[in-house]
Amino acid sequence: MSTEPSTFPRNLVECQAAARERLPHPVYEYYARGAEDEVTLEGNTRAFGDVHFRPRVLVDVSEVDLSCTLFGERLPSPVLLAPTAFQRLCHPEGEVATARGAGRRGHLMVASTMATTRIEEIAAHAAGPLWLQLYVFRTRSLTEDLVRRAVEVGCRAICLTVDVPVAGNREHDARNHFTLGDEVEIANFAGYVQSRLPEQDRDSGLAAFIREEFDPSLTWESVAWLRRLGNLPVVVKGIQHPADAEQAVEAGADAIVVSNHGGRQLDGAEPTIRLLPDVVAAVKGRIPVLMDGGIRRGTDVAKALCLGARAVLVGRPYLWGLTLGGSAGVSHVLDTLDAELQRAMALLGAVRLTELGPDCLAPIPRRH
Ligand code: GLV
Repeated sequence: MSTEPSTFPRNLVECQAAARERLPHPVYEYYARGAEDEVTLEGNTRAFGDVHFRPRVLVDVSEVDLSCTLFGERLPSPVLLAPTAFQRLCHPEGEVATARGAGRRGHLMVASTMATTRIEEIAAHAAGPLWLQLYVFRTRSLTEDLVRRAVEVGCRAICLTVDVPVAGNREHDARNHFTLGDEVEIANFAGYVQSRLPEQDRDSGLAAFIREEFDPSLTWESVAWLRRLGNLPVVVKGIQHPADAEQAVEAGADAIVVSNHGGRQLDGAEPTIRLLPDVVAAVKGRIPVLMDGGIRRGTDVAKALCLGARAVLVGRPYLWGLTLGGSAGVSHVLDTLDAELQRAMALLGAVRLTELGPDCLAPIPRRH
């Protein structure tokens, strides 16, 4: 991790405040805000406060190892970059800067279907492993083509997002008539109508795009279809109910991500850190369980791992880093989270991620 003095803010919350000053208001709100009354958005971060550590002492913590393995691949830390759309709205280099910033120490990046840089170009700059996040379009040939391109450029997995059959009710985006303008496009579909968001009078362009383009009829068969299509591991992102976790395993998913889409879809959905134990219990170790939502501190990462997550994804925080300093800002956010995680582990008396378990936590009161 970097030991050079940094001009970036000290922590992820301060990065957000600084990025807010830089970004056009509709762009800041598109990223920062959530659906409806933002109960889930706020709950995701707040719920970490209800999980408490029980540290052990007098353990030799002079070496703390953050490395983790996913699909046989060694990663520098359990922090992954979640797929996020339209990154050129944050910084002119967009996803290229993110790929460089993530790759500096080999962090895994999940590139979005809705990227403003083609998957080929992202892959060319990604020194770390790359996955493609997939939205399945009504025009199936567009999706099939994108999966083939991802395979060709060496993506290691397809991350199928399953929690957007329809757009969440993001009133801020509707009020701001959020759209892309002429400067940037959905680069994976350059040359097709699907490379643009429509202009809307009373709605966001993204909501209209989702209505027109995303396939709302998707079911569990899509997992086997995708596996056949790409011959890559399929990671199903957007699992909340333990019964769906079970179904994902049965459908052949290679991993799942416990996610409520950062509070951007169904408002009132349970915070992901609270969902995690029941999902982990349902999966019974058959496939890795990842989670995202509300992670702002290394201690949050540690709590998720104690509750059974193999790794976590962060989205908004690295976008604030990207806004503030391109690839260096992305690296700064990852370095900050990893340094905080390393400190938390030393203070917990844990030297490897596999030592993080329920034993490091105070019992969580039963809810039923
Ligand atoms: C896109 O996936 C979004 O959440 O805006």
